[in-house]
Amino acid sequence: MLVNAKDILKESKVIQFNINNLEWTKWILEECNYLHKNVILGVSSKAINYMGGPNTVFLLVEGLMKDLNIDIKVCLHLDHGKDVNLCKKCIDAGFTSVMFDGSSLSMDDNIKCTREVKEYASLFNVTVEGEVGVIGGALPDALAVNNFVLKTNVDMIAFAMGTVHGYGHMDINWTLLDNVKKNTNVPLVLHGGSGISNDTLKLLINHGIDKININTDLQFVFSKAIRRFLNMNSDVYDPRVILGSGELALKNEVKNKLDVLDGRCLD
Ligand code: G3H
Ligand code: ZN
Repeated sequence: MLVNAKDILKESKVIQFNINNLEWTKWILEECNYLHKNVILGVSSKAINYMGGPNTVFLLVEGLMKDLNIDIKVCLHLDHGKDVNLCKKCIDAGFTSVMFDGSSLSMDDNIKCTREVKEYASLFNVTVEGEVGVIGGALPDALAVNNFVLKTNVDMIAFAMGTVHGYGHMDINWTLLDNVKKNTNVPLVLHGGSGISNDTLKLLINHGIDKININTDLQFVFSKAIRRFLNMNSDVYDPRVILGSGELALKNEVKNKLDVLDGRCLD
């Protein structure tokens, strides 16, 4: 069932896996369904353009869910939407959640645009994620995060806490995370979830993170598997076979990340 992020988060913490093409979408849905884990499918504006547009992405997800008999809860979420109009287009296309990323704006403009997105999204029961600070850059203070949540009424909040997108150097500010958790009562989102050990991810969950976003780790294992396959099979040219050689690696990594939602960390 396609639901908004709140419907999933009221039941459990969740992993957002980013999708980049049909294959990833199919395999992530299959693996999560097999493991009975609700999932958020995140899609960036670049991935949306790559796949054709918001309507194509929505119909792809909707079609796969029907054809594959997916019976977990699935949320289709715009990741890092930097444009109010793109957020609205995704909502119009049927997305059940959007992120407005106003990290490049002044705090006042970020609040203003996020509110506009939230007001529109509310008409369609679509959830909204906001962002304070810059992932991989300036960290906000905990009160600014709470103030942003109160003024925008977002359903979940991402804030810079020392993680990075991709595999750069990270330095998690645990005190900031604890203070935000104490002061803010909407679900907290971790961006830049790749390159973090499962024990640290579990610890982040124990400290109050509700949604973990993963993209680069999937890209890494997928491309590594395909590169290996092509190096060993120079005569294969069927795109289904070439892309299909990444299926097992991608599904294994999805399973590996979902493991974070179970069990306790060692730290
Ligand atoms: O918004 C998407 C995530 O923050 C993904 O970060 O590529 O480091 O996994 P990642
Ligand atoms: Zn992100």
